[in-house]
Amino acid sequence: MRRKIVAANWKMNGSLELVQKLVPAVRDGVAALDNGLEVVIMPPSIYLGQVRELLSGSSIAVGVQNVAQWQSGAYTGEIAAGMAADAGCQYALVGHSERRQLFDETDELVAGKVARILESGLQAMVCVGETLEERESGDAETVVCRQLEGALKGLSAGDASKVIVAYEPVWAIGTGKTATAEDAQAMHEAIRRKLVELGLPGNAMSVLYGGSVKPDNAAALFAKPDIDGGLIGGASLKAEDFIAICQAGIS
Ligand code: 13P
Repeated sequence: MRRKIVAANWKMNGSLELVQKLVPAVRDGVAALDNGLEVVIMPPSIYLGQVRELLSGSSIAVGVQNVAQWQSGAYTGEIAAGMAADAGCQYALVGHSERRQLFDETDELVAGKVARILESGLQAMVCVGETLEERESGDAETVVCRQLEGALKGLSAGDASKVIVAYEPVWAIGTGKTATAEDAQAMHEAIRRKLVELGLPGNAMSVLYGGSVKPDNAAALFAKPDIDGGLIGGASLKAEDFIAICQAGIS
Protein backbone atom coordinates (compact mmCIF):
# COMPACT_ATOMS: atom_id res chain seq x y z
CA MET A 1 0.00 0.00 0.00
CA ARG A 2 1.27 3.47 -0.83
CA ARG A 3 2.08 5.43 2.30
CA LYS A 4 2.71 9.13 2.75
CA ILE A 5 6.18 9.61 4.18
CA VAL A 6 8.40 12.58 4.97
CA ALA A 7 11.92 11.58 5.98
CA ALA A 8 14.68 13.75 7.40
CA ASN A 9 18.21 12.97 6.24
CA TRP A 10 20.47 15.01 8.48
CA LYS A 11 23.56 13.78 6.61
CA MET A 12 26.76 14.47 8.61
CA ASN A 13 25.28 17.52 10.32
CA GLY A 14 24.35 18.34 13.88
CA SER A 15 25.67 17.87 17.38
CA LEU A 16 24.30 16.60 20.66
CA GLU A 17 23.10 20.12 21.34
CA LEU A 18 21.15 20.16 18.06
CA VAL A 19 19.67 16.72 18.78
CA GLN A 20 18.41 17.96 22.15
CA LYS A 21 16.76 21.04 20.63
CA LEU A 22 15.58 19.80 17.25
CA VAL A 23 14.13 16.39 18.10
CA PRO A 24 11.68 17.55 20.82
CA ALA A 25 10.58 20.46 18.62
CA VAL A 26 9.91 18.16 15.65
CA ARG A 27 8.27 15.58 17.93
CA ASP A 28 5.84 18.15 19.32
CA GLY A 29 5.16 19.75 15.93
CA VAL A 30 4.45 16.42 14.28
CA ALA A 31 2.23 15.27 17.18
CA ALA A 32 -0.11 18.12 16.35
CA LEU A 33 -0.57 16.93 12.77
CA ASP A 34 -3.36 14.62 11.78
CA ASN A 35 -2.69 13.96 8.12
CA GLY A 36 -1.82 10.27 8.07
CA LEU A 37 1.82 11.05 7.44
CA GLU A 38 4.70 8.80 8.50
CA VAL A 39 7.66 10.85 9.65
CA VAL A 40 11.16 9.42 9.83
CA ILE A 41 14.34 10.98 11.27
CA MET A 42 17.70 9.70 10.05
CA PRO A 43 20.40 11.32 12.19
CA PRO A 44 24.11 10.47 12.14
CA SER A 45 24.24 6.94 13.63
CA ILE A 46 26.21 8.01 16.69
CA TYR A 47 23.12 9.95 17.91
CA LEU A 48 20.54 7.20 17.28
CA GLY A 49 20.26 6.31 20.98
CA GLN A 50 19.62 9.88 22.06
CA VAL A 51 17.18 10.50 19.22
CA ARG A 52 15.24 7.32 20.05
CA GLU A 53 15.04 8.30 23.70
CA LEU A 54 13.71 11.75 22.87
CA LEU A 55 11.14 10.18 20.53
CA SER A 56 9.84 7.61 23.01
CA GLY A 57 6.06 7.63 22.91
CA SER A 58 6.07 9.48 19.59
CA SER A 59 4.94 8.06 16.24
CA ILE A 60 8.11 9.29 14.52
CA ALA A 61 10.34 6.46 13.29
CA VAL A 62 14.13 6.50 13.11
CA GLY A 63 16.45 5.29 10.40
CA VAL A 64 20.12 5.01 9.47
CA GLN A 65 21.70 6.80 6.53
CA ASN A 66 23.78 3.83 5.41
CA VAL A 67 24.55 0.22 6.31
CA ALA A 68 27.24 -2.26 5.30
CA GLN A 69 26.75 -4.88 2.63
CA TRP A 70 28.02 -7.50 5.08
CA GLN A 71 26.26 -9.06 8.05
CA SER A 72 29.16 -8.81 10.51
CA GLY A 73 32.90 -9.23 10.75
CA ALA A 74 36.19 -7.41 10.40
CA TYR A 75 34.90 -4.26 8.70
CA THR A 76 36.23 -1.48 10.91
CA GLY A 77 33.96 1.52 11.07
CA GLU A 78 30.99 -0.11 9.36
CA ILE A 79 27.50 -0.62 10.79
CA ALA A 80 25.42 -3.72 10.01
CA ALA A 81 21.73 -3.51 9.19
CA GLY A 82 21.04 -5.89 12.08
CA MET A 83 22.74 -3.44 14.45
CA ALA A 84 20.56 -0.64 13.16
CA ALA A 85 17.53 -2.83 13.87
CA ASP A 86 18.85 -3.51 17.40
CA ALA A 87 19.22 0.23 17.90
CA GLY A 88 15.51 0.65 17.16
CA CYS A 89 15.68 1.75 13.54
CA GLN A 90 12.84 0.92 11.18
CA TYR A 91 14.38 2.35 8.03
CA ALA A 92 17.73 2.37 6.28
CA LEU A 93 18.64 4.76 3.51
CA VAL A 94 20.68 3.25 0.72
CA GLY A 95 22.15 4.37 -2.59
CA HIS A 96 22.21 8.07 -1.77
CA SER A 97 24.01 9.98 -4.52
CA GLU A 98 26.58 11.24 -2.01
CA ARG A 99 27.45 7.59 -1.25
CA ARG A 100 27.53 6.77 -4.95
CA GLN A 101 29.74 9.77 -5.81
CA LEU A 102 32.02 10.07 -2.80
CA PHE A 103 32.30 6.41 -1.80
CA ASP A 104 32.05 4.82 -5.26
CA GLU A 105 28.92 2.84 -4.43
CA THR A 106 27.72 0.87 -7.42
CA ASP A 107 24.25 -0.49 -8.21
CA GLU A 108 25.56 -3.95 -7.33
CA LEU A 109 26.72 -2.79 -3.92
CA VAL A 110 23.40 -1.05 -3.34
CA ALA A 111 21.61 -4.32 -4.17
CA GLY A 112 23.73 -6.13 -1.55
CA LYS A 113 22.83 -3.52 1.05
CA VAL A 114 19.13 -3.75 0.18
CA ALA A 115 19.33 -7.53 0.78
CA ARG A 116 20.96 -7.03 4.24
CA ILE A 117 18.39 -4.38 5.13
CA LEU A 118 15.45 -6.63 4.30
CA GLU A 119 17.01 -9.65 6.07
CA SER A 120 17.24 -7.50 9.19
CA GLY A 121 13.56 -6.61 9.11
CA LEU A 122 14.15 -2.97 8.23
CA GLN A 123 12.57 -1.06 5.38
CA ALA A 124 14.90 0.14 2.64
CA MET A 125 14.69 3.67 1.29
CA VAL A 126 16.46 3.33 -2.04
CA CYS A 127 17.71 6.54 -3.67
CA VAL A 128 18.01 7.00 -7.41
CA GLY A 129 18.66 10.10 -9.49
CA GLU A 130 20.48 11.51 -12.48
CA THR A 131 23.24 14.12 -12.67
CA LEU A 132 22.78 17.43 -14.49
CA GLU A 133 24.89 16.18 -17.36
CA GLU A 134 22.73 13.08 -17.69
CA ARG A 135 19.56 15.17 -17.63
CA GLU A 136 20.87 17.63 -20.20
CA SER A 137 21.86 14.84 -22.53
CA GLY A 138 18.36 13.38 -22.32
CA ASP A 139 19.42 10.29 -20.36
CA ALA A 140 17.70 10.97 -17.05
CA GLU A 141 15.07 8.25 -17.38
CA THR A 142 17.54 5.67 -18.68
CA VAL A 143 19.90 6.32 -15.76
CA VAL A 144 17.16 6.15 -13.13
CA CYS A 145 15.72 2.95 -14.64
CA ARG A 146 19.18 1.36 -14.72
CA GLN A 147 19.71 2.27 -11.05
CA LEU A 148 16.33 0.77 -10.13
CA GLU A 149 17.04 -2.42 -12.02
CA GLY A 150 20.48 -2.74 -10.43
CA ALA A 151 19.39 -1.99 -6.88
CA LEU A 152 16.21 -4.05 -6.88
CA LYS A 153 17.48 -7.07 -8.74
CA GLY A 154 16.10 -10.23 -7.17
CA LEU A 155 13.55 -8.38 -5.02
CA SER A 156 10.35 -10.39 -4.63
CA ALA A 157 6.98 -8.75 -5.10
CA GLY A 158 6.30 -9.64 -1.44
CA ASP A 159 9.35 -7.73 -0.22
CA ALA A 160 8.40 -4.69 -2.29
CA SER A 161 6.17 -3.43 0.51
CA LYS A 162 9.36 -2.93 2.55
CA VAL A 163 11.02 -0.86 -0.15
CA ILE A 164 10.51 2.84 -0.68
CA VAL A 165 12.03 4.57 -3.68
CA ALA A 166 13.38 8.11 -3.31
CA TYR A 167 13.94 10.03 -6.54
CA GLU A 168 16.65 12.60 -5.88
CA PRO A 169 18.01 14.35 -8.97
CA VAL A 170 21.66 14.96 -8.08
CA TRP A 171 21.58 18.51 -9.47
CA ALA A 172 18.78 19.44 -7.06
CA ILE A 173 20.49 18.23 -3.88
CA GLY A 174 21.66 21.06 -1.65
CA THR A 175 21.65 23.48 -4.57
CA GLY A 176 18.36 25.26 -4.03
CA LYS A 177 17.31 24.08 -7.52
CA THR A 178 14.25 21.87 -7.29
CA ALA A 179 12.87 19.82 -10.14
CA THR A 180 9.60 21.39 -11.24
CA ALA A 181 6.64 19.51 -9.85
CA GLU A 182 5.83 18.49 -13.45
CA ASP A 183 9.31 17.10 -14.13
CA ALA A 184 9.34 15.27 -10.81
CA GLN A 185 5.87 13.84 -11.52
CA ALA A 186 7.01 12.64 -14.96
CA MET A 187 9.98 10.82 -13.45
CA HIS A 188 7.85 9.32 -10.67
CA GLU A 189 5.51 7.95 -13.32
CA ALA A 190 8.49 6.48 -15.19
CA ILE A 191 9.75 4.93 -11.94
CA ARG A 192 6.41 3.20 -11.34
CA ARG A 193 6.40 1.90 -14.93
CA LYS A 194 9.89 0.49 -14.45
CA LEU A 195 8.98 -1.12 -11.14
CA VAL A 196 6.04 -2.85 -12.82
CA GLU A 197 8.34 -3.98 -15.63
CA LEU A 198 10.60 -5.50 -12.95
CA GLY A 199 7.65 -7.55 -11.70
CA LEU A 200 7.06 -5.33 -8.67
CA PRO A 201 3.80 -3.68 -7.56
CA GLY A 202 4.98 -0.25 -8.70
CA ASN A 203 1.60 1.39 -8.25
CA ALA A 204 1.39 0.26 -4.64
CA MET A 205 4.91 1.34 -3.61
CA SER A 206 5.77 4.70 -2.05
CA VAL A 207 7.96 6.94 -4.21
CA LEU A 208 9.39 10.04 -2.51
CA TYR A 209 10.98 13.13 -4.03
CA GLY A 210 14.15 14.69 -2.63
CA GLY A 211 16.29 17.66 -3.64
CA SER A 212 15.91 21.15 -2.17
CA VAL A 213 12.42 20.50 -0.81
CA LYS A 214 11.50 23.57 1.25
CA PRO A 215 8.31 24.86 2.90
CA ASP A 216 7.56 26.99 -0.17
CA ASN A 217 7.74 24.22 -2.77
CA ALA A 218 6.63 21.14 -0.82
CA ALA A 219 2.90 21.58 -1.38
CA ALA A 220 3.23 21.79 -5.19
CA LEU A 221 5.45 18.69 -5.29
CA PHE A 222 3.31 16.68 -2.87
CA ALA A 223 0.13 17.56 -4.78
CA LYS A 224 1.31 15.47 -7.73
CA PRO A 225 -0.42 12.09 -7.96
CA ASP A 226 2.74 9.97 -8.07
CA ILE A 227 4.69 11.81 -5.36
CA ASP A 228 4.09 10.19 -1.97
CA GLY A 229 6.22 12.50 0.12
CA GLY A 230 9.75 13.75 0.49
CA LEU A 231 13.29 13.03 1.56
CA ILE A 232 14.53 16.23 3.13
CA GLY A 233 18.13 17.29 3.67
CA GLY A 234 18.93 20.90 4.63
CA ALA A 235 15.40 21.89 5.63
CA SER A 236 15.19 18.95 8.06
CA LEU A 237 17.74 20.67 10.30
CA LYS A 238 15.30 23.49 11.09
CA ALA A 239 12.29 22.39 13.12
CA GLU A 240 10.02 25.10 11.74
CA ASP A 241 10.84 24.28 8.12
CA PHE A 242 10.62 20.54 8.58
CA ILE A 243 7.26 20.77 10.34
CA ALA A 244 5.96 23.10 7.62
CA ILE A 245 6.98 20.51 5.01
CA CYS A 246 5.19 17.80 7.00
CA GLN A 247 2.10 20.01 7.02
CA ALA A 248 2.07 20.40 3.24
CA GLY A 249 -0.75 18.16 2.09
CA ILE A 250 0.26 15.00 0.25
CA SER A 251 -2.36 13.92 -2.29
P1 13P B 1 18.55 18.86 0.32
O1 13P B 1 17.13 18.85 0.80
O2 13P B 1 19.50 19.57 1.24
O3 13P B 1 18.66 19.28 -1.11
O4 13P B 1 19.05 17.31 0.35
C1 13P B 1 18.27 16.34 -0.23
C2 13P B 1 18.85 15.03 0.11
O5 13P B 1 19.91 14.66 -0.37
C3 13P B 1 18.12 14.19 1.06
O6 13P B 1 18.61 12.88 1.08
